[in-house]
Amino acid sequence: MTRWRWVTRADCVISGPLSPGSVVAAGGRCGRCPCRAPRGRRALRSRCSAAGGPRRLRGHSARRHRPRRRHRGSRRSPAMAKEGAQRAEETEQMIDKEGGREANEGGAGGSLRAGDAKEMRAVVLSAFGGLNKLRVSKKAMPEPQEGELKIRVKACGLNFIDLMVRQGNIDNPPKTPLVPGFECSGIVEALGDSVKGFEIGDRVMAFVNYNAWAEVVCTPVEFVYKIPDDMTFSEAAAFPMNFVTAYMMLFEVANLREGMSVLVHSAGGGVGQAVAQLCSTIPNVTVFGTASSFKHEAIKNSVTHLFDRNADYVQEVKRISADGVDIVLDCLCGENTGKGLSLLKPLGTYILYGSSNMVTGETKSFFSFAKSWWQVEKVNPIKLYEENKVIAGFSLLNLLFKQNRGGLVKGVMDKLLNLYNSKKIKPVVDSLWALEEVKEAMQRIHDRGNIGKLILDVEKAPTPLMANDSTETSEAGEEEEDHEGDNENKERMPFIQ
Ligand SMILES: NC(=O)c1ccc[n+]([C@@H]2O[C@H](COP(=O)([O-])OP(=O)(O)OC[C@H]3O[C@@H](n4cnc5c(N)ncnc54)[C@H](OP(=O)(O)O)[C@@H]3O)[C@@H](O)[C@H]2O)c1
Repeated sequence: MTRWRWVTRADCVISGPLSPGSVVAAGGRCGRCPCRAPRGRRALRSRCSAAGGPRRLRGHSARRHRPRRRHRGSRRSPAMAKEGAQRAEETEQMIDKEGGREANEGGAGGSLRAGDAKEMRAVVLSAFGGLNKLRVSKKAMPEPQEGELKIRVKACGLNFIDLMVRQGNIDNPPKTPLVPGFECSGIVEALGDSVKGFEIGDRVMAFVNYNAWAEVVCTPVEFVYKIPDDMTFSEAAAFPMNFVTAYMMLFEVANLREGMSVLVHSAGGGVGQAVAQLCSTIPNVTVFGTASSFKHEAIKNSVTHLFDRNADYVQEVKRISADGVDIVLDCLCGENTGKGLSLLKPLGTYILYGSSNMVTGETKSFFSFAKSWWQVEKVNPIKLYEENKVIAGFSLLNLLFKQNRGGLVKGVMDKLLNLYNSKKIKPVVDSLWALEEVKEAMQRIHDRGNIGKLILDVEKAPTPLMANDSTETSEAGEEEEDHEGDNENKERMPFIQ
């Protein structure tokens, strides 16, 4: 049990002066009010009058005593809040472990942002599994090879596929440790040999074959795109994966045209919102969407008919359109494959592009994997021929990094940037998170809390922990056990723009 001294008289704004030298257990209470002492080495640093000074203590303490006000736009259930609190505690410890220099360099945002130009901060996945496998560490800074650009990263996209990578829930997973992330935005810092069309200082967004969640990345020039002047770095990090996927499925695979109808799952998510926006660029397209019901108010203008994700959407769609739909975009897999196929009109197209149903917990579940695989409708081509149906699959990452179609994607990106410049599409950013908050950001997707895209903002400092109001008060000066339940009183709120 860690012990520390409650050092200053001004530090409890509810009870007033505390006796200097009162000893409480880390994670325990000051003994006069519901004020909780923080835990861990960082807590010691930040509370010690020698290191932090009374002013800092007062400010922090005051925050902890304020009745917790939910952030506008925060949509967390009590269960989510508890999970989030546990994540927050882990992150706090993560910063502690990694931030040996943090105190010297002054500030959480500057942790490991060393003067040493050869090193950088990066999120590292040490092994496949739960959120505890993620850390922010120092890594050697990459240098561009021939045909590559070196990018000083400003923001990174966090996608559902990143959860699956973390769990090892993908085909042929690479070896760990690895730096996750497939897309980022930033500023060109150096050019490899034979790179043309870019200059140092250009604002860009890029696909990266892993390694995007770092302060610096290098990636081949064919995966890099200049960003419009009025596009923020957060928007740019939210753009490539969602919009290219949505565009290629709708226009390259399914040939969306005027008057057609589309069914999309997870309509409030990153890809879902991109699909909805792109459908609105074609006249008279009907979009059927499923999403958790708390998102319906926020996304109702982008989707024609919205259903709760647990509703019997096959019946609901048929009630509105007896014939079904022209295009089914299925990112869930499992039983939804058969349902999607059953909803297709003649000459309609079903596209499988994800398997979100396989994610049922923090770690990979072989049961969910087997169930999902078992539930997939086994397709007989003769039946497709008789029913005039098209079935397709789409994987952008395979297209880019395994099937060498960077040129094709570049053409799509040009069209998408024209749509952006003519203000027909705009990425929806859910929230911004520091690299050190990656666990909480991922937890938000696990909790189905996001509307639009989650962004890791490389320059953002972690949001201070907010304390819930405590209920118990112990006797003055009493020592308390350092118990797990204390985590419930800490929560880090999402930063919503
Ligand atoms: N093939 C490709 O090239 C490609 C590219 C990008 C994305 N994808 C796929 O497209 C899907 C959406 O990706 P995204 O990055 O835009 O993410 P996203 O939609 O923002 O993902 C989060 C949302 O997914 C829904 N969801 C469905 N099953 C879930 C589960 N088991 N656990 C948690 N949430 C679940 C939740 O929304 P509701 O509760 O509202 O349903 C959640 O808010 C994913 O399946 C992803 O793998 C495929």
